[in-house]
Amino acid sequence: MIFGASGDLAKRKLIPALYNLRACGQEMGPRDFAVLGFARRPMAVEQFRESAREWAARFSRLELDRECWRDFASRLDYLPGLDQPDGFVRLKTRLEEIEAAHGLPPNRIYYLSVPPEAVPECVERLDTAGLIAKPGASNFSRVIVEKPIGHDLESALEINRLVHRYFDESQIFRIDHYLGKETVQNMLVLRFANAIFERMWGARNVDHVQITVAESEGVGTRAMYYDPAGALRDMVQNHMLQLLALIAMEPPVSLDAVAIREAKLNVLRALRPVAPGKARDLVVRARYGPGTADSQRVPGYLQERDIPPSSHTETFVALKAFIDNWRWAGVPFYLRTGKRMADRTTFIYVQFKDVPQILFNRGAQLPPNALTLRIQPDEGFSFEVLAKQPGLDVAIKPVRMNLRYESEFTGPSPDAYERLLLDVMAGDHTLFVSASFVEKSWGFVQSILDQWRGDPAFPMHEYPAGTFGPEAADHLIRADGRAWKNP
Ligand code: BG6
Repeated sequence: MIFGASGDLAKRKLIPALYNLRACGQEMGPRDFAVLGFARRPMAVEQFRESAREWAARFSRLELDRECWRDFASRLDYLPGLDQPDGFVRLKTRLEEIEAAHGLPPNRIYYLSVPPEAVPECVERLDTAGLIAKPGASNFSRVIVEKPIGHDLESALEINRLVHRYFDESQIFRIDHYLGKETVQNMLVLRFANAIFERMWGARNVDHVQITVAESEGVGTRAMYYDPAGALRDMVQNHMLQLLALIAMEPPVSLDAVAIREAKLNVLRALRPVAPGKARDLVVRARYGPGTADSQRVPGYLQERDIPPSSHTETFVALKAFIDNWRWAGVPFYLRTGKRMADRTTFIYVQFKDVPQILFNRGAQLPPNALTLRIQPDEGFSFEVLAKQPGLDVAIKPVRMNLRYESEFTGPSPDAYERLLLDVMAGDHTLFVSASFVEKSWGFVQSILDQWRGDPAFPMHEYPAGTFGPEAADHLIRADGRAWKNP
């Protein structure tokens, strides 16, 4: 069941992902299933199927096959009335009809693609309608909750508490779609299936780490959601802290979900909150001004559609963080993310320490070794080392050992949502976010939000659209004698 089935996420991601899982010949997903869209807007089932076809044709990874679509569409249903008093009673009846018609057991997955403030009411009404099976019952009820989970630490705690009132943690799947990305999953393989990296992973050998999540798009049509949120809530609290946890975690004791979640959580437990009065030294916020994207002039954030002129929302954040544990003591982690930046690129850059200033490095002129994990696009990773340029002189040149997924591997690479939906069906929590992670990550973000709120003169820098952020972000890292790595 997709709650909020006429929304953006359902259109762009969920329906296309479900179709791809079903797509004939591939059949990664279960053979027998049905999808019910549940939303406020009145719409006939046929109309829903038709618009679902349009969304899938536009956003699906695989091209639409007519026969296959017909089979998929016959399993699609739609029910309006999410906001009606008897909506959930009708939902129950319709579910039972669908299950009877398709010969399906009542194993149900509720995808709450609704605004966070609507989540508590949805779960409460599911319970009242008798639609939640107890954990361990012969048939399962699972719920998928989308980010943002809450608006701050307090509201996140409240949402977790309310959802826990009706669902056991084992029934809850909190999505962070970055965890479904192929390259993000590869981070664990790279670290723990290879001997060379793990030995170098930590304060003894690493000078610093950078995590960049840059987007070239602006706020687009999402002002209603984005303006009350901003980059810190939208990207840092979830995607970026997930990446941080994966790059910094200790080897988990096993590959099961509990062990991996625990290892990630330990990173957040050690993540130093931004101490009161320190935010000005450690955090830069900014918003984009007018500039250029794809050779076109584009407006600044304040001129975007539906953004109030009085908005005080950041579209860019850069920050310096420390993980106070044995492995990472003293190693800075520089994070930055923004909209309308020069490029769409997500990567993690690990810079190793300089070689001693003897032999080839007298005068400290050699660039350091570095490992770059390219999450998207051009997925892969590269390792920068130094080599002697052929010739009679000793000329040393940085060279790059590069792996590109595209050239190395063939075969399908499922979209993040395909993988994650499949995992919910299988009941596998490994790639989902635990309640504790949500709370700890909000705890860190809250230490910044509090200082922004308590310091009305906290600078809001501006950067021209189409650049890598404001000068102040360069200064943040340059003050430590380092520089951002741009692609
Ligand atoms: C979403 C944010 O979670 O992630 C968006 O709400 C952002 O603002 C998006 O654009 C980025 O995802 P991706 O997969 O395109 O990097």
